Amino acid sequence: MASIAYSDRADATEATLPRAFRVTSHRAETRDTVTLELEPEDGTPLTFLPGQFTMFYVFGVGEVPISISGDPHHPATLVHTVRSVGAVTEAIVGLSVGDGVGIRGPYGVGWPVAEAEGKDLVVVAGGIGLAPLRPVVLDVLARRDRFGVVSIIYGARSPGDLLFEHELHLWRSRFDMETEVTVDRSDENWFGDVGVVTGLLPRVSFDPANTVAMLCGPEIMMKVVANEMALRGVGAENMHVSVERNMKCAIGFCGHCQFGRDFICRDGPVLPYARVAERLRVSQL
Ligand SMILES: Cc1cc2nc3c(=O)[nH]c(=O)nc-3n(C[C@H](O)[C@H](O)[C@H](O)COP(=O)(O)OP(=O)(O)OC[C@H]3O[C@@H](n4cnc5c(N)ncnc54)[C@H](O)[C@@H]3O)c2cc1C
Ligand code: FES
Repeated sequence: MASIAYSDRADATEATLPRAFRVTSHRAETRDTVTLELEPEDGTPLTFLPGQFTMFYVFGVGEVPISISGDPHHPATLVHTVRSVGAVTEAIVGLSVGDGVGIRGPYGVGWPVAEAEGKDLVVVAGGIGLAPLRPVVLDVLARRDRFGVVSIIYGARSPGDLLFEHELHLWRSRFDMETEVTVDRSDENWFGDVGVVTGLLPRVSFDPANTVAMLCGPEIMMKVVANEMALRGVGAENMHVSVERNMKCAIGFCGHCQFGRDFICRDGPVLPYARVAERLRVSQL
């Protein structure tokens, strides 16, 4: 069995030490989700690739993986969009401007944006899944001429659950990008689509032989969308999904996030669908 060299231990210690950040902005997205802007106490920006995540530590409560939802071209501000589902995320959502937190990372393999250059791009997000994909959209829009047809399909439970509403309006008004939005349940103020995201797929055009798809949301949603895209001729190797598993170390040491032969913190969270399709058929216990 391979032993860990002292230099590896030093690297590991370094990689697991949180840096001090302070909350500079707190914006409610929905009734249970906020977007926080944070700045590092030491002034060193946290540069990242779209799809990477940090380990977000609320002192005295705990630490959880959270994707970076900000603009990769403006790393001076770290942006996280968090939905309250349990103890730590509830504490994050309850933070106020001026509060201090610990951040380590960025970690993980991000979306293959470089691979999508010169090709059509289809982005499909469900619920909080738009948060890890927002950096992709901002990056693509900053370099729009490098990509072919760009389409975004976003679904949420209800109109009140839509994230980044202001930006969604801006994206929908652009002529160089198709943005489709749907909700599971409508209300009296909603005049848009109702139904699952797959219902909107026929509306977006792309060249199946020259398309990269990025999917993030509930696993069932990603599987159904991937099947539909496959029926339209997109190869499983050109579809990418973001897989979530509980994490502890986030640096490939503890095995907490193991998913078959992959450690999600190190080999993911973004993985080619071709690599994980079989494993995603087995529900998470
Ligand atoms: C790579 C990665 C990126 C993530 N990015 C974001 C993000 O940008 N925004 C965001 O709001 N959340 C994100 N999450 C999910 C977030 O980490 C969990 O919601 C959080 O760990 C829950 O911790 P808690 O203490 O609040 O709740 P807990 O008490 O630990 O859990 C509450 C409920 O959530 C479930 N749960 C816990 N962790 C996960 C998980 N990783 N995946 C699915 N269900 C889980 C539990 O089974 C339980 O039902 C991400 C997770 C991963 C792995
Ligand atoms: S969280 Fe420890 S190996 Fe992934």
